[in-house]
Amino acid sequence: MAHLAPNYAPLDVTLTQGGGAWLTDIHGNRYLDCLASYSAVNFGHGHPALIAAAHEQLDSLTLVSRAFDHDLLAPFADALTALTGTEMMLPMNTGAEAVETAIKAARRWAYLSKGVPDGQAEIIVAEGAFHGRTTTIISFSTDPDARDHYGPYTPGFVTVPYDDPDAVAAAITPRTAAILVEPIQGEGGVIIPSVDYLPRLRALTDANNVLLILDEVQSGLGRTGYTLDQQRVGVAADLTTLGKALGGGIMPVSAVVGRADVLGLLTPGTHGSTFGGNPLACRIGIAVVQLLKTGEFQEHARALEAPLGERLDKLRERQLIADYRRVGAWAGIDVAPSLGLSGKEVCVRLRDRGVLAKDTHGSTIRLAPPLVISEAELHEALDALEDALE
Ligand SMILES: Cc1ncc(COP(=O)(O)O)c(C=O)c1O
Repeated sequence: MAHLAPNYAPLDVTLTQGGGAWLTDIHGNRYLDCLASYSAVNFGHGHPALIAAAHEQLDSLTLVSRAFDHDLLAPFADALTALTGTEMMLPMNTGAEAVETAIKAARRWAYLSKGVPDGQAEIIVAEGAFHGRTTTIISFSTDPDARDHYGPYTPGFVTVPYDDPDAVAAAITPRTAAILVEPIQGEGGVIIPSVDYLPRLRALTDANNVLLILDEVQSGLGRTGYTLDQQRVGVAADLTTLGKALGGGIMPVSAVVGRADVLGLLTPGTHGSTFGGNPLACRIGIAVVQLLKTGEFQEHARALEAPLGERLDKLRERQLIADYRRVGAWAGIDVAPSLGLSGKEVCVRLRDRGVLAKDTHGSTIRLAPPLVISEAELHEALDALEDALE
């Protein structure tokens, strides 16, 4: 690894194959994947429909750049906007690029539509958020690891506590272009806000002519039991960022979906990407939309919520975990401090018991298995967790 920049400290396991919810390492050991690449593999490793779509497309056309149209771009835009109930989409590649795109679109809307003096737009963001790694995005990160030693920082962001609509109300000024939050803070430890948080943000943004931008790069596309997590609380954002699972675990595919009067303010030359909306990405994206249209992944995520909760309740009763938060097939689990184990140490023990999961913030473990995991396999993973904590 001498030639690899040390910006990650992965668990000591070298994987070589995947299928469904399972991964195999170079020694032939099998593991239940309980991270799903941070929810980018929601449909499981090597989903046959996604792999078939990608294979077919590899043989016909993969990249033309946006200098030319291709036959899958409009169909992908039609399919994704229909799935999400939105008016317009803009394709990009990574999640961070989708967030950057939403920030740019919101600022442009503030200047060209709302009438904020040029260069003065503000975007309200939340403490503990994770929206990606670009210099602008880390400028408003409250995580020192993500932010320190990367200045000078991009101005124009106002940070308020998460799950605190009153703080948002107090922060709104005539220069506010948008509020940008995650419906659930994934990297923050699966922090689920009060059910009235997003509805109250929606009311505030409506009353003040401010855009509501929801970053659903991690929470969206089935993970919480809904196509978009915002549907769980009955809210429709003005702009929503999508990524991760949109690429089916095959390649980076991201997008901003939302209002045509906002995204429609972009004109040729004012924003773009060489790879965004390429034929291979669109083909995979269309296949992903087709899987989500059936509702079966969302339904399965909702079905896993109860067993996951029951098992975690037991671990909490036994004081093996201090607390947990869960929605759909997604949980943030705080290891009991009395055990004296870091989240990473628990993940090492899980690996030794055939389960791959990821720690976050010291003593929290995230579980986000592919949505093809069976209830019996989920119990296997939770047996391993119980054993690891014991
Ligand atoms: C909510 C959210 N937004 C944006 C990103 C960034 O996505 P990417 O790593 O594809 O740039 C992430 C990644 O974890 C995320 O969880």
